[in-house]
Amino acid sequence: MTIAAASAVDLTREDQAHLIHPLHHPSDQAEPQIWVKGEGAVMTDANGREFIDGLGGLWNVSVGHGRKELARVAEEQMSTLAYCSSYAGSANVPAIQLAQRLSQLAYPSLNTVYFTSGGAESNESAFKTARFYWKAKGKPEKVKVISRYYAYHGVTLAAMSATGMPNYWPMFEPRVPGFVHIDSPYPYRFDKAAPGETIGQAAARLLEEAIQQEGPDTVAAFIAEPVQGAGGVIVPPDDYFPRVREICSKYEVLFIADEVITGFGRTGEWFGLSRWNVQPDIMSFAKGVTSGYLPLGGIMVSDEIHDAMQHVPPTRRWMHAYTYSGHPTCCAVALKNLEIIEKEGLVARAAEAGRRLLAGLKTLYALKAVGDVRGLGMMAAVEVVADRDTKRRFDASERVGGRVYKEMLKRGLFTRVLPDVICLAPPLVATDEQIDRIVQIVGESIEAVVPGK
Ligand SMILES: Cc1ncc(COP(=O)(O)O)c(C=O)c1O
Repeated sequence: MTIAAASAVDLTREDQAHLIHPLHHPSDQAEPQIWVKGEGAVMTDANGREFIDGLGGLWNVSVGHGRKELARVAEEQMSTLAYCSSYAGSANVPAIQLAQRLSQLAYPSLNTVYFTSGGAESNESAFKTARFYWKAKGKPEKVKVISRYYAYHGVTLAAMSATGMPNYWPMFEPRVPGFVHIDSPYPYRFDKAAPGETIGQAAARLLEEAIQQEGPDTVAAFIAEPVQGAGGVIVPPDDYFPRVREICSKYEVLFIADEVITGFGRTGEWFGLSRWNVQPDIMSFAKGVTSGYLPLGGIMVSDEIHDAMQHVPPTRRWMHAYTYSGHPTCCAVALKNLEIIEKEGLVARAAEAGRRLLAGLKTLYALKAVGDVRGLGMMAAVEVVADRDTKRRFDASERVGGRVYKEMLKRGLFTRVLPDVICLAPPLVATDEQIDRIVQIVGESIEAVVPGK
């Protein structure tokens, strides 16, 4: 069946019969949006209706939809050499060039890269590399990973175990042992600061206490997103990450920055931790590296970790591998995508447009259901609450988030609401008019569901 020949109704029926979706449940699939086209920050569905892509795909379509130059590069590379192995002993030109480019762009301490096909694979690679490193250093007991609640690190088994949203766990447990969670530095809801302590200091203290409790000799790494994305765009206080870095160094715990969302300009910097002048030991990336045009991710590791990989005997080598590591076509598209981000000044644009988005959303404090508005660069969120004074959430049975989502769709905005937090991360190329329209739609949709100023 071709798209042209199929009606939206037929497509829906075939979807329901044959396709299993991420987070699958049929109750969400009664009237799916079936996307057929994208241009800039706008997507069109099978009924011909246009929507602003409020989450830039899934936080990844940074350069916007419909970029012919990316399609041309993919075609060229596929026609020349679509695929080859990158296993030890082989390499290809786009992978080498992209690795070199990333070493220029990333934190000064990170100069080497291993490519994956996406975020979860990157985090799996990061966890295994942390364990590898400590074994190579003669500390084989250092295996545990500390992460935060509200973290999203992907849903393969170890990544799911690091993910700090418990609704991802129950139907797939038991989780991988050795994953420990601490509270997130969530300014709106954090309640563990002692008198005289800032939220950033207190949240970092929880990391130190967790390391001490587990035993520093058993902890391999701490993983954190610079800005927590799927957990609800949680921007940490400025004093959090500098202190986290000190604690990780003090206890010899590797600091893994999960920059799957925050990498490549999303926060208004090339990489998210730069805002706080902090460097990780390992960085996971994916999404924005290709703007989602092809699947690609990876980890970058510190010179010290790379050195350990270079100096183990062959029998103790880094025995980790993916068929699609260093995929030439994906790497060629990534190179072109990075060129676009640079040439069009999209990192600076993310900072500027993000300020406009956040300022616009802050006007929604006029609505009584808006509890918190937050963001950094082109990532922002509006948290809807039942009671602004107590910050009480709506009862899940009221399905407020789901109803706001439907109201936004009616008005031409497509994004995710998790569960009462409206998340926004439009393509970095979204125009000022589109940003203002997003703000207007979010406000109207909240008011339609929870009337009142
Ligand atoms: C911060 C972060 N890490 C990891 C992932 C997992 O990436 P993937 O879905 O490509 O496995 C995501 C996906 O949203 C993410 O936001």
